[in-house]
Amino acid sequence: MEIKNISVIGGGTMGNGIAHVFALKGFNVNLIEMNDELAKKALTMISINLDRQIKKNIINETEKSKTLNNIKAVVGVENIQENTDLVIEAIVENKDAKLSVFNRLKAIIKSDSIFASNTSSISITELSSSSNRPDKFIGMHFMNPVPVMKLIEIIRGYETSDETYNAIKDLTLRLDKVPVQVQDYPGFISNRILMPMINEAIFALMENVASAEDIDAVMKLGMSHPMGPLTLADFIGLDVCLAILNVLYDGFNDPKYRPCPLLKKMVAAGKLGRKSGEGFYKY
Ligand code: NAI
Repeated sequence: MEIKNISVIGGGTMGNGIAHVFALKGFNVNLIEMNDELAKKALTMISINLDRQIKKNIINETEKSKTLNNIKAVVGVENIQENTDLVIEAIVENKDAKLSVFNRLKAIIKSDSIFASNTSSISITELSSSSNRPDKFIGMHFMNPVPVMKLIEIIRGYETSDETYNAIKDLTLRLDKVPVQVQDYPGFISNRILMPMINEAIFALMENVASAEDIDAVMKLGMSHPMGPLTLADFIGLDVCLAILNVLYDGFNDPKYRPCPLLKKMVAAGKLGRKSGEGFYKY
């Protein structure tokens, strides 16, 4: 099956980026949000990010208007285009919320369409259980910011077929991105390695081993990381980091993944990083 029509559920940080990159490559994109205001906000973000690409001479004005014309924003999953070939879910990192979306979609979307989730850590096999098509269910884990980052981690659930994997791998290449095949284990590869590092940086801060700036400086200047772990945590969102650590902790039953108490406290206080205006740094 040729994939032409893409539906993205959720137009937040990741969803609007995913809609952006598909529309830029000429796909018909349906972007589904919860209400009109959020749908408009997602389209505005895409327009701002396309302007960034114009400034950097990556695209021109004509490509920008073509891209925006390829995106139709709609409110509510019940209004999704029925002829969609691929659904990419990018709503909050919460298993029950995601299961409920796939449960509703399976009655609307034709049975040969592929369902993908952009989850950072939740089991693809578990999510596929409510989809009536576990062989056509897959993880398509984009990196933030989506228009800039090259990698897509493709996660195979227990029953994901070779046909589905190959279709998503080809699609990744059509987006000029690089696919990496990963099996379905908690945190996949990216977050299984990244989150323990971020968590350890937060423990070091909590124990006053060094200041946030100095912890970040060690990893930036000493290890050549493009940004320090605490800056990165603020960028990802501290609530997202905590949700992923909880999945790792529950999934492996191993105390090495226990979320740092300081991270829990900051999330409880609403200090979520960039998106709330304050995390380890003020914005
Ligand atoms: P976000 O909170 O920025 O966006 C989620 C969006 O989904 C919101 O705009 C919300 O209104 C919408 N939404 C929620 N329920 C919906 C529904 N039933 N129908 C339509 N829209 C709905 O979250 P973000 O950061 O974009 O994360 C989305 C997913 O991507 C999560 O699973 C997250 O773990 C994953 N992810 C996040 C990364 C990051 O750096 N933030 C990186 C890679 C993956």
